[in-house]
Amino acid sequence: MTTSKTRCIGILTSGGDCPGLNAAIRGITKAAIQDYGIQVVGVLDGFRGLVENRTVPLKHDNLSNVLTLGGTILGTSRDKPAKMAMGDRIMDMTDVAVQNARANGFDCLVCLGGGGTQKNAYHLHKAGGLDVMTLPKTIDNDVAGTDVSFGYDTALTIAAEAIDRLHTTATSHDRIIIVEVMGNKAGWLALGAGIAAGADVILIPEIPYDIEAVKEYLIERRRRFGKRFSIVVVAEGAVSKEEAALGARPSTETLFEDEDNGVFGPKLVMESLAGRLARQLQAMTGTEARVTSLGHVQRGGVPTPTDRLLCTRLGVRAADFLAKGRYNVMVAVQGRKIVSVPLAEVAGVRRTIPLKHPWLDAAMKVGTCLGVSRSELRP
Ligand code: F6P
Repeated sequence: MTTSKTRCIGILTSGGDCPGLNAAIRGITKAAIQDYGIQVVGVLDGFRGLVENRTVPLKHDNLSNVLTLGGTILGTSRDKPAKMAMGDRIMDMTDVAVQNARANGFDCLVCLGGGGTQKNAYHLHKAGGLDVMTLPKTIDNDVAGTDVSFGYDTALTIAAEAIDRLHTTATSHDRIIIVEVMGNKAGWLALGAGIAAGADVILIPEIPYDIEAVKEYLIERRRRFGKRFSIVVVAEGAVSKEEAALGARPSTETLFEDEDNGVFGPKLVMESLAGRLARQLQAMTGTEARVTSLGHVQRGGVPTPTDRLLCTRLGVRAADFLAKGRYNVMVAVQGRKIVSVPLAEVAGVRRTIPLKHPWLDAAMKVGTCLGVSRSELRP
């Protein structure tokens, strides 16, 4: 066993779950115990569990059969230490969180999560003086400082498989199918899955779309190539050009007031983005449209081997950094290496798709419509 500057750690998972969390917990814990003799304690239900001091010891025996298990054995929540609902009040529980971490003897608190978790962990360090470490987890792939976050590959695989299936039914019925995928305010999941599954149109938050350009593309596709079906992949955070100019998506009520809403039900029923696109494109092209929203299916189930490998690599490297006493960093992928990045550089920064990204070029070069005319993106 190698000597370690760290004797005891807490691990928590925070934010939306995703496949690979258990593989990462397993990687950290096994390497920490086996290689460095570090004691590992699981904190339940994210930062709320820390505030409420709910913990469980992590050992080799409670890590059997978790490598392939989706979700998180520790439970998760979206609670923030600085603004936590306590009964009917919102309270700053930073001090309690830090005191509990210290009372449990944590030399470092390891937080597995996405953008919000990076911020919350950094807050515990900055405001409370607690040493922390993070690992980048999210199907959205929008954590700064890393080439990829774990969970993304699994969600991408699920979304691409679903789009493959929609292709055959869209073809048979000559329909436009609008598929809404997750991704929050970044288009990685929509773009990756859309390219992998050969979507005809991909709409992402980074490129506000022009519905006229989408209509033109679909009509041209039919006229020139005789294609009577189309697959439109839309990221949940996509916005039209008008919405981007307004700085917001108009409220549901406005949308329904603007339209002949008799068909679409009462004013207060939320019309999804995909639903709105289906309604518009059906009316504009005369082709029947249908909607599929993949939702939480993208976050469930068994992680892909690529994610399991990534989580294990991130986890064991985290243990190496802990043994060296390298705290207040995020363990990240850069190129072929697993590195540590100062948390200060990552917290609060969202990684969206740069307009010069090669995936956008690839999509355009295979003839995919990105919601605007090609000359707008590459003048
Ligand atoms: O951040 C992951 C994510 O799945 C986003 O893609 C999505 O917007 C959000 O979480 C959904 O959150 P919830 O599970 O709380 O509905």
